[in-house]
Amino acid sequence: MNATFDFTDRHVVVFGGTTGINLGIAQTFAAAGARVSVASRKQENVDFALATLGSGALGLVADVRDDAAVAAALATARARHGEIDVLISGAAGNFLADVNSMSSNAFKVVVEIDLQGSFHVARRAYEHLRKPGASVIFISAPQAVVAMPYQAHVCAAKAGVDQLMRVLALEWGPAGVRVNAISPGPIEGTEGMKRLAPQGPEGDALVRGMVPLGRMGTTADIAQLAMFLGSDAAGYVSGALIPCDGGAQNMLTPMIVAAAEKGGA
Ligand code: HXC
Ligand code: NAP
Repeated sequence: MNATFDFTDRHVVVFGGTTGINLGIAQTFAAAGARVSVASRKQENVDFALATLGSGALGLVADVRDDAAVAAALATARARHGEIDVLISGAAGNFLADVNSMSSNAFKVVVEIDLQGSFHVARRAYEHLRKPGASVIFISAPQAVVAMPYQAHVCAAKAGVDQLMRVLALEWGPAGVRVNAISPGPIEGTEGMKRLAPQGPEGDALVRGMVPLGRMGTTADIAQLAMFLGSDAAGYVSGALIPCDGGAQNMLTPMIVAAAEKGGA
């Protein structure tokens, strides 16, 4: 992947960075010279990510729902690679379920991964951030601003993530820490699209038809925006929620409904 920024000697930490969009972000920062640390729950995903990231990368097993595990992972990352220049919080869970089919635990598990997990990651990372100059990036979703059926848990959780981002931009700005969020649109080949879009050529055509730019996004599209937000080029950008979605932010509800009608995730 072509790197358009230079992150030599910078430390980039990606929670949920072992698969999909977040792994694409980690790979792109690594290609731009960064020292990269990635963390997620499953050892096999950590091993998979490390095999793609090169020998300098650090892989950590931590569940973002576990505040102590997050703190320990961040301490290990700091000890190995130094102060953190860019922190990305992207761990998430999703499945299709209407509220009447959603148990209390089903709602809670998504809120705990997406929202409470983001709180753990950001709060525990603060002492390790390079100040001034660090950049914190949350990975949000269109559900944060567009109410979608079958997505009550994700809508609530990601809306919370956006507001957490805005509060942290206020509280940490005086220390020289920028805080922003990326809201990806439909990104091809990801777990999210497997769960939330109808599969096969017909499904792909349906999704493409909802995107003004006429195509699904790639992990590289998201990674390039993350690099911009992590770089000094974005030195006056903070408190911003930036969609990266080909213009589709408000258009995706029929995709969710079609996937749910086909049986759901
Ligand atoms: C109803 C469901 C369900 C479903 C799980 N549950 N799947 N309820 N419909 N399809 C319920 C379970 O019955 C249980 O409730 C509760 O949720 C917790 O389930 P567990 O399997 O015990 O949880 P856990 O092992 O912690 O796994 C978390 C998970 C899982 C979220 C359920 O899917 C996961 O690990 N996902 C991570 C990967 C992922 O989802 N990636 C996609 C991100 S895409 P009970 O009451 O039975 O105990 C994204 C946005 C995309 O975030 C946006 C696109 C536009
Ligand atoms: P993904 O491949 O499933 O990525 C989720 C990552 O989070 C995985 O590395 C997973 O690894 C980790 N994770 C899940 N639960 C965790 C937990 N409790 N603790 C720590 N790590 C955990 O999904 P994706 O589709 O690429 O989505 C990535 C991000 O983009 C998410 O924040 C999602 O909401 C957002 N997004 C995606 C799309 C899309 O089109 N795919 C659109 C909008 C927004 P483990 O299983 O090993 O823990």
